[in-house]
Amino acid sequence: MLIQPLVPERKEAVARVYQAAFAGFPWFEDLTFGEVMARLDPLFEKPGFTGMVMFYGDDIVGAHWHDILSLQQLRADRSNDLAQWVIDNGHSDKLLIWERELIVHPEFQCQGRAYVLRQAFLKKLIAYKTPLLVLTRLREDNIGSIKSAERIGMTDTGVTKPASQAPLKHHYWALTVG
Ligand SMILES: CC(C)(COP(=O)(O)OP(=O)(O)OC[C@H]1O[C@@H](n2cnc3c(N)ncnc32)[C@H](O)[C@@H]1OP(=O)(O)O)[C@@H](O)C(=O)NCCC(=O)NCCS
Repeated sequence: MLIQPLVPERKEAVARVYQAAFAGFPWFEDLTFGEVMARLDPLFEKPGFTGMVMFYGDDIVGAHWHDILSLQQLRADRSNDLAQWVIDNGHSDKLLIWERELIVHPEFQCQGRAYVLRQAFLKKLIAYKTPLLVLTRLREDNIGSIKSAERIGMTDTGVTKPASQAPLKHHYWALTVG
């Protein structure tokens, strides 16, 4: 499975995968291409934005990206509870990586591609050459994402946030590297 950097010229192809991926389980979102691009634009401008795409032949069928944030930003973007969890677990001196998104086109799901993307992500993190804490948010019914998170060693922090689809919750997951 060929994996290449997510460079600006690949953004539209990524947006199409995003549109298809979020039209399926568990989101069932009916997003126009313009709405997807409007959602991606600010994410691709985040400090430390780095991404990768997965090819099948000439087509992009999956993508993954992350960015870097401070503890203050984490508190503002997510919650006091999550920032406190970072401090209480002795991670406040680590570089904080926010695993922002992981998508696989529905026609290519359930073939282990999310796992391969997350493994490639872990390999990339070594380049930072500093102890890291990777954080992400997973909705509790998103089995497809939870399985590959568990397989790369991520664990549930126990910090949660109610999802807009009550009574579901988002759980924050973490992994230390280095
Ligand atoms: C989440 C996502 C990236 C997973 O991609 P994928 O390539 O299908 O993932 P993998 O094939 O590596 O692993 C999927 C695992 O979940 C299981 N799975 C997938 N959908 C499932 C479902 N609806 N119910 C139960 N299990 C499911 C698969 O059987 C597989 O299990 P296995 O490892 O025991 O074989 C993909 O479903 C997607 O793009 N979803 C929409 C966007 C999204 O939610 N992104 C993550 C946001 S946190």
